[in-house]
Amino acid sequence: MKPGYDAIMSKKRIIITGATGLIGRKLVAELRNDYELVIFSRDPARARAALPGAVDYVAWQPAEQGPWAAAIDGAWGVIHLAGAPISGGLLGKRWTPEYKAEIRDSRVIGTRGIVNAMATAQQRPAVFVCASAVGYYGFYRDNTPLDEDAPPGRDFLAQVCVAWEAEAAKAEQLGVRVVRLRTGLVLDPDSGALPQIMLPFKLMTGGPILPGTQVYPWIHPADEIGLIRFALEREDVRGPLNAVAPGALANRDFAAILGKVLGSPSWLPVPEFSLRIALGEMADLVVYGQNAIPRKALALGYQFQFPQLEPALRDLLNLSH
Ligand SMILES: NC(=O)c1ccc[n+]([C@@H]2O[C@H](COP(=O)([O-])OP(=O)(O)OC[C@H]3O[C@@H](n4cnc5c(N)ncnc54)[C@H](OP(=O)(O)O)[C@@H]3O)[C@@H](O)[C@H]2O)c1
Repeated sequence: MKPGYDAIMSKKRIIITGATGLIGRKLVAELRNDYELVIFSRDPARARAALPGAVDYVAWQPAEQGPWAAAIDGAWGVIHLAGAPISGGLLGKRWTPEYKAEIRDSRVIGTRGIVNAMATAQQRPAVFVCASAVGYYGFYRDNTPLDEDAPPGRDFLAQVCVAWEAEAAKAEQLGVRVVRLRTGLVLDPDSGALPQIMLPFKLMTGGPILPGTQVYPWIHPADEIGLIRFALEREDVRGPLNAVAPGALANRDFAAILGKVLGSPSWLPVPEFSLRIALGEMADLVVYGQNAIPRKALALGYQFQFPQLEPALRDLLNLSH
């Protein structure tokens, strides 16, 4: 959607937290020309160097209040993406009790602080787009379809998402339109999970992660950004919104397509116990899945640029179609 006459005359101000991350960097590039961006970061100098073009860079960290709250007064929108990384992969942090607390608190306390700032603002934002994840639905090994009305799971990540979304939803009582974006696996060849998923295939040892029936809800970054913009600009979008492609696939089919696209065999099944040894509890992220479906986005008329996995991977990996 193009900005209207009002936006051109004086651009609307948007606060973005987590702007330096995988999704945030692409989002800033998308919104920079149409909005006045204010970037909240734990390291504003680093954010300024990495993401030029915002009108301000504000020191922020997850807390119930702070001097940064003043910057929220008068902003038209807030997009809240910040949070400690959930999966660091083999080389990342393990889910120790301390790190699990950081994953949770960075989201729950961070969101609470943002909403507290809205409550004290003289001029509150019109819209609040808050990240969440398909992990909300819990862990499945089958293809039960999960639209936005499906119940939450009970595991650690699901409970993080429930508490995170509950904090975000409090902004509704302040008259703010709130969208809780339940994102799937954002496919980026340079960061996030995809490079780790691709590694065994590049070593010719790729294959499904057993049982292979678990569904991976993925999304192309262009659609992740497209849906954030849709949530921001379409006044009829509110509440939970699954940010996943319609073409989610069982892990064995995901592996077969990845092998085909990379020109590598997909023959070596990965048993759960080896992932448990390597990743500990974090193995849950790959041995289970969720067949999250974008019911609301499709019903509201969002048109996916990349609804199917093979063209999405070919586009991301710069391979001919
Ligand atoms: N990428 C995915 O596949 C995916 C899937 C589902 C849900 N999500 C959710 O969407 C949001 C954005 O995802 P992303 O992949 O762009 O995240 P990301 O690359 O991990 O980065 C998010 C940003 O959060 C901030 N951050 C990191 N650790 C933090 C901590 N301990 N406390 C507070 N802030 C911290 C950092 O910004 P500063 O250093 O500038 O403060 C970082 O750039 C996250 O909340 C994530 O859980 C992502």
